[in-house]
Amino acid sequence: MENNLAGKVAVVTGASRGIGKAVALELAKRGANVVVNYNGSEQRAQEVAEECSQYAKAVAIQANVAEESDCQRLFAQVVEEFGKVDILINNAGITKDGLLVRMSAEDFAKVVDTNLKGAFLCLREAAKIMMKARYGRIVNISSVVGVHGNAGQANYSASKAGIIGMSKSAAKELAARKITVNVIAPGFIETDMTGCLNEKVKEEMQKQIPLKEIGTPQDVAEAAAFLASDSARYITGVVLGVDGGMGM
Ligand SMILES: NC(=O)c1ccc[n+]([C@@H]2O[C@H](COP(=O)([O-])OP(=O)(O)OC[C@H]3O[C@@H](n4cnc5c(N)ncnc54)[C@H](OP(=O)(O)O)[C@@H]3O)[C@@H](O)[C@H]2O)c1
Repeated sequence: MENNLAGKVAVVTGASRGIGKAVALELAKRGANVVVNYNGSEQRAQEVAEECSQYAKAVAIQANVAEESDCQRLFAQVVEEFGKVDILINNAGITKDGLLVRMSAEDFAKVVDTNLKGAFLCLREAAKIMMKARYGRIVNISSVVGVHGNAGQANYSASKAGIIGMSKSAAKELAARKITVNVIAPGFIETDMTGCLNEKVKEEMQKQIPLKEIGTPQDVAEAAAFLASDSARYITGVVLGVDGGMGM
């Protein structure tokens, strides 16, 4: 598996920590040049880029994926620096949990803007570049709750369900240009996003996972690296659960 992405250029959104960081590192270990996108965590993103550059070229680029002009600038910078984009991992995401009846329209919009519109804006910019090259691998990070829903996460699960519909449409539109678009739906993964939950809640969650284990960012990174590779050339429009069986 080593070096099966040599010479490729990959953009990973939200790669300053958590799942995005693990994905960026795994792609770099397999030889890809990596763009480590971040929003606010500059120091952490620079450290991830430095770690990636042990294996291939890597740069950290700030862009708020919810902002159209930021996404346009991000991809213009990538083309200027690397000349192409082969792989896009749409990973940047946030939560603003709350019960539906108390959820503000602002909290609904903020989550959808970052998670769904952000993925759309990056997908659109990347697709323009990939269509000319007649090659591309796009992996969008959804969630098990985008398929099954979750109390307290109406905004988040709507954004993650939207990613699935958008990805299948994009997969159909872009297939003729040899661009694949797939989705990973992680279950419960140990990161800052889930770190705020107390131990009792985590124990309860763990009991409900068929494999009885909380997932790691590396579990998602391995799946993303596979879908980003030429080993997955004949796979498009799928939703791959990386969830210890939660999605069954
Ligand atoms: N952890 C889980 O259990 C789990 C389960 C299913 C799906 N997921 C999904 O997996 C993805 C990564 O989650 P995670 O757990 O690794 O989250 P995390 O640890 O909270 O990291 C989130 C990342 O997204 C970036 N980000 C947030 N808003 C952004 C914006 N507007 N523009 C650019 N980057 C932005 C953050 O960058 P800054 O630090 O610079 O703000 C950070 O790098 C998310 O899409 C999440 O919904 C996670």
